[in-house]
Amino acid sequence: MRIDIISVVPDLLEGPFSHSILKRAEEKGLAKVVVHNLRDYSDHKQKQVDDYAFGGGAGMVMKIEPIAKCIEHLQSQRSYDEIIYMAPDGERLEQKAVNALSLKKNLMILCGHYKGVDERVREVFVTREISIGDYVLSGGELAAAVLSDAIIRLIPGVLNDESSALSDSFQDNLLAPPVYTRPAEWRGHGVPEILLSGHQQKIDDWRYDQSVKRTKERRPDLLE
Ligand code: ADE
Repeated sequence: MRIDIISVVPDLLEGPFSHSILKRAEEKGLAKVVVHNLRDYSDHKQKQVDDYAFGGGAGMVMKIEPIAKCIEHLQSQRSYDEIIYMAPDGERLEQKAVNALSLKKNLMILCGHYKGVDERVREVFVTREISIGDYVLSGGELAAAVLSDAIIRLIPGVLNDESSALSDSFQDNLLAPPVYTRPAEWRGHGVPEILLSGHQQKIDDWRYDQSVKRTKERRPDLLE
């Protein structure tokens, strides 16, 4: 899988992609993330990529020309399954959509800034608009990093223990059960006996019951 991310602050994306699982995915050749600086596609002397909003009001709007130039340049090199715009008014991201996106070959992600992009970018180029939650970030970069992380960790071979992605919270509309590790006793706090019993079937049943209990208590909406 390849993910191309278009941003006006590419430095913001350096951290998330140069560590841990995402870095390992790149090293194993399973995923490649390429960040593009939108200013490189501006014909303006000062590399300006935004302008005042028609009709007035506070805040700048990202111009269509540099975005079009960048997207069309990338499209001339490969075809994209989706061109995703990260925005608080997009569809709210859920595991089901992440699962589907993890099966794609080439994704492009456009990060908004300021007041957002000229609406014509959304009309002409964008195939999907995604929000990571009902709150507003100062730009789409952190949202793009969240989306990319959620997608890439699902690609077979990226996680060491592949079954660990299948047992994530939300994969079957249930939250994950509690987990414990050594020591079995810490300052008087023990761990559930069943986990030390060695009876795998009983442990699996206990974990399932805990998942259902936790989901009922914390996210009853998932069970509806
Ligand atoms: N950009 C700003 N806020 C955002 C959000 N909540 N989700 C995705 N992109 C955003």
